[in-house]
Amino acid sequence: MAGQFSRSVVYLITAVLALTNLVSAAPVLKRNPYEFVLSNPYSDTVFSLGNISYLANTKHPKVVLGTAAETRTTTVPITVIKANVSAISRAWLEHTFQLYAAGDDVWNYDFLDGIYISSSVKASLESGAIEYLAGFNTSYVFTDGSVTGQSTFTTITVSPTEGLPVGPYLATLGPSTASLATVYRFVPSRLYYWHDTRPLAGERVAVKDLYDVKGLQTSGGSQAWATITPTANGTAPSIQRIIDLGGVIVGKQKLAQFASGANPWQWQDEHYPFNPRGDGWLTCSASSSGAGCSIAAYDWLDFAIGSDTGSSMRRPAAVSGTYGQRPSQGMMSLERVLPLGGATDTAGVFSRDPHKWVHFSKNWYIPPLHQDVSITGLSPLVVPDSNAFPKTILYPTDYLPLNNSAAEPILEAFIANMTRIFGMQVKRINFTATVQNWTDPVAKNLTTLNAATGVINTWTAWEVIGKPLLTAWANLFDGRFPPIDPARRPGWRNFNESVTNQAAYDAALVTKNRGVQAYESNLQYSTPDSCSESLLIYDIGTGGLPSFREQTLNDSPGASYLAVRPAGAAITGANICPIFGCADFTVPIGQVPYKSNVTFHEEMVPVTINLVVKRGCDFVLYNFVQRLADEGVLKTVKTGRTAF
Ligand SMILES: *[C@@H]1O[C@H](CO)[C@@H](O)[C@H](O)[C@H]1NC(C)=O
Ligand SMILES: *[C@@H]1O[C@H](CO)[C@@H](O)[C@H](O)[C@H]1NC(C)=O
Ligand SMILES: *[C@@H]1O[C@H](CO)[C@@H](O)[C@H](O)[C@H]1NC(C)=O
Ligand SMILES: *[C@@H]1O[C@H](CO)[C@@H](O)[C@H](O)[C@H]1NC(C)=O
Ligand SMILES: *[C@@H]1O[C@H](CO)[C@@H](O)[C@H](O)[C@H]1NC(C)=O
Ligand SMILES: *[C@@H]1O[C@H](CO)[C@@H](O)[C@H](O)[C@H]1NC(C)=O
Ligand SMILES: *[C@@H]1O[C@H](CO)[C@@H](O)[C@H](O)[C@H]1NC(C)=O
Ligand SMILES: *[C@@H]1O[C@H](CO)[C@@H](O)[C@H](O)[C@H]1NC(C)=O
Ligand SMILES: *[C@@H]1O[C@H](CO)[C@@H](O)[C@H](O)[C@H]1NC(C)=O
Ligand SMILES: *[C@@H]1O[C@H](CO)[C@@H](O)[C@H](O)[C@H]1NC(C)=O
Ligand SMILES: *[C@@H]1O[C@H](CO)[C@@H](O)[C@H](O)[C@H]1NC(C)=O
Repeated sequence: MAGQFSRSVVYLITAVLALTNLVSAAPVLKRNPYEFVLSNPYSDTVFSLGNISYLANTKHPKVVLGTAAETRTTTVPITVIKANVSAISRAWLEHTFQLYAAGDDVWNYDFLDGIYISSSVKASLESGAIEYLAGFNTSYVFTDGSVTGQSTFTTITVSPTEGLPVGPYLATLGPSTASLATVYRFVPSRLYYWHDTRPLAGERVAVKDLYDVKGLQTSGGSQAWATITPTANGTAPSIQRIIDLGGVIVGKQKLAQFASGANPWQWQDEHYPFNPRGDGWLTCSASSSGAGCSIAAYDWLDFAIGSDTGSSMRRPAAVSGTYGQRPSQGMMSLERVLPLGGATDTAGVFSRDPHKWVHFSKNWYIPPLHQDVSITGLSPLVVPDSNAFPKTILYPTDYLPLNNSAAEPILEAFIANMTRIFGMQVKRINFTATVQNWTDPVAKNLTTLNAATGVINTWTAWEVIGKPLLTAWANLFDGRFPPIDPARRPGWRNFNESVTNQAAYDAALVTKNRGVQAYESNLQYSTPDSCSESLLIYDIGTGGLPSFREQTLNDSPGASYLAVRPAGAAITGANICPIFGCADFTVPIGQVPYKSNVTFHEEMVPVTINLVVKRGCDFVLYNFVQRLADEGVLKTVKTGRTAF
């Protein structure tokens, strides 16, 4: 299974390293020796210790120490340790190494060929500590004079070194210098960030390949687009914010081409990512599919950044059983991000852990990164961070109960827990009939509102991507149409600018604004006690049925296609917030069994629910989610076959 999951994620960083089985090592009886594997084209060093391969950034060492270390160039895996005690005992070292092993998936005991030890107070290595290190056959001890008592090792004295975090390094020792290079197992050691107090320090983040990251090619999932556009010469502000917070960008992720809603079987230019849940044959949905499934697959990955125009964060989160949101319209700058709909696109983050998800989100979505009203066509965003929670749970009878009757009790228990914890009342409504009962003839017509969203989603992508791509390709290749997936080919082949144009777009923004105003007066509004008086729930997933990457399997009564509009509803549940600007979070609440027609064995499919509040009430909803996590109602999900 390990190999196949590697396809769902991170494909721009040279994948020479083992992607999986990042396990903490136990103390060793025999330390694995250093073995050089190769110098890659960037002059980094690939090496192995036992059966694990590493990459060392030897081209740009973290520090170069001007010291005579070895007469002949020697390469040594070492560990940098910082002490703050005067007597460094065996127990202190043992405890420190245990912390390293538990807290990191890159460092292990094989990095004890040498140590670099310094202390914030004058310290000595006690004889027990020396004996303990000798047991690892440690050869080298670097010291800056703050630690004494290590005479049995080859001791290399250096000047005190600033900016050298604890953790594993590859040391290259020579006659006049010793250089220390940081070490990666596809991802850098977490230890490098232990003393970094920034909110996201060391958190590993992958990015949907429609955000610009300086120095990488943005593909939008299209080889043709990658051919006609340069490598990004800047980073999207949304991604820069993550880097500034200490996040570690580890790579870019597959998406449905140009953020389309293409089904798995419609992918041609890229191979579809794998979903680790259930039988390994389930859909990852679209378009942030690589991002959603990666979070369900890889323990070593903490967050994945996606985007949502019509469902593309919320549905991948649903089918992978992870946390993922569509924030309020306008919450995050989408500068340097390939667009689908200028006034419908939003940026979201996937996570397995509700606390970490809330922490990330509240640090990421800051007012300076809100979009201008000229982009959203809506009122300026106001985002209170309070506990003014909703009082009412709106249960829409046109979207619920969940399609799989085995899943509905899980939802009922979740609702009961919400009403218990927050003292909420459940109100059953028919969403469609409720909207159709409004007075504004434009705002009450869901068909009109949905059509306006369609114009927004079509015009921006055509103007910014489709038209320039077709033009450039025709110029380069004798009038040819570019090779693109069927989700976009007919629409762009037949694009009619006398129907869909800037004027139609501007009119659609006005229509959308009317819809949002009516929604916020009639359905989800603020009161003195609540940012959003109600919490609307619905399911963007399959209601607890499996949905497969192989099309025909979905024709079975026990399976489901995605994006099914219930009979009697004018729009899908997914469309509600793209139309009305609201915040819509997918949260995992359980799982149900199905008999797989792929493995012919019982498997589990995640059950999730969507929580919707009025535009601007995102932070109140994060506080709500946090409270549910504190109460044990929302839980951290696992990677792999089952979420729980
Ligand atoms: C240290 O070296 C001895 C002798 O070669 C060997 O038996 C022992 O396994 C080594 N210890 C470690 C931890 O590698
Ligand atoms: C690597 O070796 C360790 C210890 O010898 C073993 O436990 C582990 O399963 C091996 N991993 C792989 C991927 O072969
Ligand atoms: C010493 O380090 C430990 C572990 O990092 C830390 O908990 C403790 O507060 C530190 N003590 C001092 C005096 O800095
Ligand atoms: C980045 O590239 C664009 C064209 O793609 C160019 O207009 C712009 O000047 C470049 N910016 C920098 C800082 O090089
Ligand atoms: C429609 O509005 C009328 C008048 O306000 C109200 O009595 C009725 O209950 C509403 N129906 C629905 C389905 O909201
Ligand atoms: C909604 O508007 C469309 C035109 O966009 C119109 O054809 C349809 O009749 C309207 N529906 C209702 C219920 O008024
Ligand atoms: C484009 O749309 C206009 C207005 O509906 C129509 O008159 C025209 O024939 C269309 N052009 C093409 C090429 O279909
Ligand atoms: C498996 O196949 C059987 C027979 O075609 C069908 O009845 C059932 O719904 C399928 N189950 C799933 C989960 O796809
Ligand atoms: C429930 O599943 C059935 C069978 O796939 C399907 O026909 C129906 O449209 C689904 N309903 C919803 C609301 O998804
Ligand atoms: C909800 O209301 C719509 C519009 O009146 C109607 O077509 C649909 O059947 C209703 N659905 C339910 C489940 O009551
Ligand atoms: C959630 O609700 C169910 C059923 O009402 C209950 O059994 C369960 O203990 C609750 N869980 C938590 C964590 O409160």
